[in-house]
Amino acid sequence: MSDVKTIRVALAGCGTVGGGVAEIVINRGEALAHRTGLRFEIVKALVSDASKNRDVPFDSSLFTDDPNELAAVDADMVVEVMGGTDRAREVVLAALQRSVPVVTANKALLAHHGVEVYEAARKGNTCIAFEASCVGGLPIIGALLRGLQANCNTSIMGIFNSTCNYILTEMLSGGASYADALKSAQQAGYAEADPTLDVGGGDTAHKLTILASLAFGLNLDGDNVAMEGIESIELTDLQTAQELGYACKLIGIGKRFDDGAVSLSVHPTLIPHGETLAGMNGTSGAVVVQSDVVGETFYAGAGAGSLPTASAVVADMIDVATGAAQKTFEQIRVYNDRTATPKHRDANERGYAYFVRASANDAASSVDKLKGCDVEWKHLAPNSQNDSAIAITAVMAESRFKNKLADIQETLSLAESPKFIRILPQETNR
Ligand code: NAP
Ligand code: HSE
Repeated sequence: MSDVKTIRVALAGCGTVGGGVAEIVINRGEALAHRTGLRFEIVKALVSDASKNRDVPFDSSLFTDDPNELAAVDADMVVEVMGGTDRAREVVLAALQRSVPVVTANKALLAHHGVEVYEAARKGNTCIAFEASCVGGLPIIGALLRGLQANCNTSIMGIFNSTCNYILTEMLSGGASYADALKSAQQAGYAEADPTLDVGGGDTAHKLTILASLAFGLNLDGDNVAMEGIESIELTDLQTAQELGYACKLIGIGKRFDDGAVSLSVHPTLIPHGETLAGMNGTSGAVVVQSDVVGETFYAGAGAGSLPTASAVVADMIDVATGAAQKTFEQIRVYNDRTATPKHRDANERGYAYFVRASANDAASSVDKLKGCDVEWKHLAPNSQNDSAIAITAVMAESRFKNKLADIQETLSLAESPKFIRILPQETNR
């Protein structure tokens, strides 16, 4: 094909995502060249173990476990899909210092070292693109950097972690145990190398930090997110919530208030069945953005996996090769190194209704005792399956609810605090 430009790629990492990138740019390279006028050639691939047998569509002599070899190769871009914040940070910074543009899927790196990485890119007079870092194949970063630039955004929320959504779906509809569902998410390549990042909420917090930074044009840091994971969610609560008309999802919520303060939180959340987010199951991810000009926009699709994630990586590779990524990085002032650090509002000030399960001897007496507590209940009923009372409170600030929870524990003489799950606030209150 004439008029096709060859782009030399140094690939840092060739696992789930890197393998998907190789599949698209090599096995589907003709169609890509036809559409874009670009042909990507992998000229080196960094892995931990270069001797491992791999099913890849390029010459295995290109593998190295030496980052210096990757740095020495003449490449038009480095594509970092290795993960972690140590070696990956070195590889990314070294490339940017050599003025080589970087495409990365690494949310942990950007959530914790964003300023350092963006500054290195500017010093090197080059750019970094990271569509795949947030919610896999969804083009949400492109939407924030381009599609929504006419707007001031006031909130960004959604299902950002596929492993958790997959586990919750498998537990409820597939009858899987939490441990088995996590194992199959790992086997399918959805989970992080350290899966506690997924189930503990850290991966969602990383993505929320990046997305809210871009959405609000503020310098946010991954350490400022109030976070709970799904490890203590029990099947009985998923089932009861379902009967009451709710789906349970791990939700990241970023909100910018009128005074410029921000709150960032990640926690399991019950969502009424009528809301679109409630219907996002399996590995689907979704993002909802509230903006002042366009109103609400919704983005949904595969949030993880080899080809869906590689789709986003390759989109960035094309943007870097065409020069579009460089222009966006230079012109649009929403990257952490160019934005102000806001005040954080305590997540305890946010208002929710709460689903509560409390158990004192038997279901009937649990209900009686909850009736005697100073709480406005919107729903209160026995659950004979597990000798408990199931209740839903009126909306109240989290700090107030936690005091009530302590009272409930004392009134019912419980050894542990009752289980609770927040319920997604009404749209106007998010
Ligand atoms: P993965 O399957 O574990 O692959 C990681 C690759 O990097 C492997 O080839 C590994 O080498 C190599 N590697 C790791 N540490 C290295 C080191 N210190 N030195 C040299 N090579 C090293 O991981 P992945 O799922 O593809 O994820 C890669 C990145 O994409 C992560 O930042 C992840 O958060 C992000 N991401 C993943 C998904 C997904 O669905 N999996 C989606 C979006 C974003 P070996 O092959 O020799 O082990
Ligand atoms: N472990 C991540 C997830 C990969 O499950 O969503 C995609 O970022």
